[in-house]
Amino acid sequence: MNSIIQIKGLTQVFSNSGNDETIIHQLNCEFSKNEITAIVGPSGSGKSTLLSLIGSLEKPTSGTITFDDMDLNKLKNAELSSFRFEEIGFVFQQFHLLPSLSVFENVMAPFLTKKVGFGKNERVKEVIQQVGLEHKSRALPSQLSGGQQQRIAIARAIVNRPSWILADEPTGNLDSTNSELIFDLLVDLHETQRCGLIFVTHDLNLARRAHRIIHMQDGRIVEDKKGERVC
Ligand SMILES: Nc1ncnc2c1ncn2[C@@H]1O[C@H](COP(=O)(O)OP(=O)(O)OP(=O)(O)O)[C@@H](O)[C@H]1O
Ligand SMILES: [Mg+2]
Repeated sequence: MNSIIQIKGLTQVFSNSGNDETIIHQLNCEFSKNEITAIVGPSGSGKSTLLSLIGSLEKPTSGTITFDDMDLNKLKNAELSSFRFEEIGFVFQQFHLLPSLSVFENVMAPFLTKKVGFGKNERVKEVIQQVGLEHKSRALPSQLSGGQQQRIAIARAIVNRPSWILADEPTGNLDSTNSELIFDLLVDLHETQRCGLIFVTHDLNLARRAHRIIHMQDGRIVEDKKGERVC
């Protein structure tokens, strides 16, 4: 399920020191699960805000975001939380791993308050293996390299088999070799697990390798073009 995201008239206004600032302007857009979409644009253009709105981490000031026929505006908070758990895997530039938990425990974390119909331990082991870090299961995040930490953050994002991976500058803290490895891992997940993939990046070389590149400026989409990847 969840093969299309439809965005209509999306507007986000933030209040900064009493002044209202429109960060996303009446944005209309559609995302397909079959495509890898890169979002690029200058700092402050609203890329992270858009990703947070799509992933329901924030509520829009106005406009709608619909996953197939499910309108996020119509979900109550508890339903939104379930929606995020079931459908969305977030990956962030700063990894956001819990420093006092082991690799295994970090990947298990999304399951802590949730019931699922499969063995949690087996699933956690499986995804850690999938990202190639089974030998680091007992390590703490501080004992991993940046690239390894991001692999674990990706394992945590996909542990519940989300329909979509939303990645905000997933390679922003990594050197070029690790950036390549992380990008290849995300592409592999898109292809093998059929996860929709939307990622924000400042790296135009990576953006070019998507199916589609959306260029944002001042809270608007100013360009929407094909990347080099073909479906
Ligand atoms: N919660 C918030 N409250 C007030 N203003 C915010 C909030 N979140 C973002 N902004 C403002 O919205 C604008 C867009 O921010 P956003 O983080 O979406 O930009 P970005 O394109 O991701 O930039 P970068 O490339 O630097 O990450 C910025 O001016 C920022 O200060
Ligand atoms: Mg950002």
